[in-house]
Amino acid sequence: MILCSCSRLTRAEVSEHVTQTLRDDPYSVITPGRLFHETGRSIRCGFCCALVDQMIAKELARLGRGESPTAA
Ligand code: FES
Repeated sequence: MILCSCSRLTRAEVSEHVTQTLRDDPYSVITPGRLFHETGRSIRCGFCCALVDQMIAKELARLGRGESPTAA
């Protein structure tokens, strides 16, 4: 499934990149900008950024790295 039509970034690539990044550094902060840069792409229109951010969060949660609700 393509998440970014400008750069042809797929859901599978996001999943793979998040997994690999956390394998290399478990304390990495992964943002859409970083993901685009590290996969050799650039953000053009920006329309997909919220969706890519959401996918990153889903992958982090799937890998047990999602943010847990905090008691304020
Ligand atoms: S849809 Fe991703 S930058 Fe345009």
